Amino acid sequence: MLQIEKLHVNVEGKEIVKGLSLGVKEGETAAIMGPNGSGKSTLSQAIMGHPGYEITKGRVILDGKDITEMEPNERSIAGLFLSFQYPLDIPGVSVNNFLRTALNARRKSPIPLPEFKKLIKKQMETLKIDPLFLQRYVNDGFSGGEKKRMEILQLLTLDPTTAILDETDSGLDIDALKIVAKGINTFKTEKKSVLLITHYQRILSYIIPDTIHVMVDGRIVKSGGKELAEHLEEHGYEWAR
Ligand SMILES: Nc1ncnc2c1ncn2[C@@H]1O[C@H](COP(=O)(O)OP(=O)(O)O)[C@@H](O)[C@H]1O
Ligand SMILES: [Mg+2]
Repeated sequence: MLQIEKLHVNVEGKEIVKGLSLGVKEGETAAIMGPNGSGKSTLSQAIMGHPGYEITKGRVILDGKDITEMEPNERSIAGLFLSFQYPLDIPGVSVNNFLRTALNARRKSPIPLPEFKKLIKKQMETLKIDPLFLQRYVNDGFSGGEKKRMEILQLLTLDPTTAILDETDSGLDIDALKIVAKGINTFKTEKKSVLLITHYQRILSYIIPDTIHVMVDGRIVKSGGKELAEHLEEHGYEWAR
């Protein structure tokens, strides 16, 4: 479903992703593990079309369509979703407005209000988010864990076909991690593709990946099954290098 072909990405003129190829099939959960600074977030921003991350070579294919040149909103409508490692605050825009507007942007006719309310209520229960959050501004004054839950609320609301989750586990205590994992597992069905980016093995006990890719210095240096995570935990990234 998602195919990354020999991708090179520059940030501020410096090459960070250096010829990376990777495929995530329909229904597959793939994990990318790698040390800090290996280019995982750069890769995810480039896949989503952030203008500051310049693709100099290679292609990104989604569902058979070349999306390399598309605008981020077009990629979103095509079925791609990115959960940020560092979610941004949007003061002045309520969670309620944000989610409805984002959802309506990808529908032919706006979602009727009662239907929207029902949908959101169910998801907020799954993620244990207080309904009062609907009236608050997006991420404004949220704790780290609340921001990550808000990302997953967006995931469940927009219901994309392919989700890239960039360190959704970072900074979460064990209870929050379980809630977030439950949300992600709710999203996963046999039709969805997930690319889970992490540098710890911890979240992979709750969301079992089909494949693990190890990224070091802008490249995939090793790929394998879920047992690779335990091996990494024991031997560290030096071993993969
Ligand atoms: N917006 C940016 N401006 C300048 N340098 C950046 C930017 N984004 C990433 N980099 C650099 O790219 C490298 C990889 O960073 P990143 O993709 O965040 O790695 P990871 O997510 O694997 O920790 C780092 O050296 C980082 O400083
Ligand atoms: Mg990162």
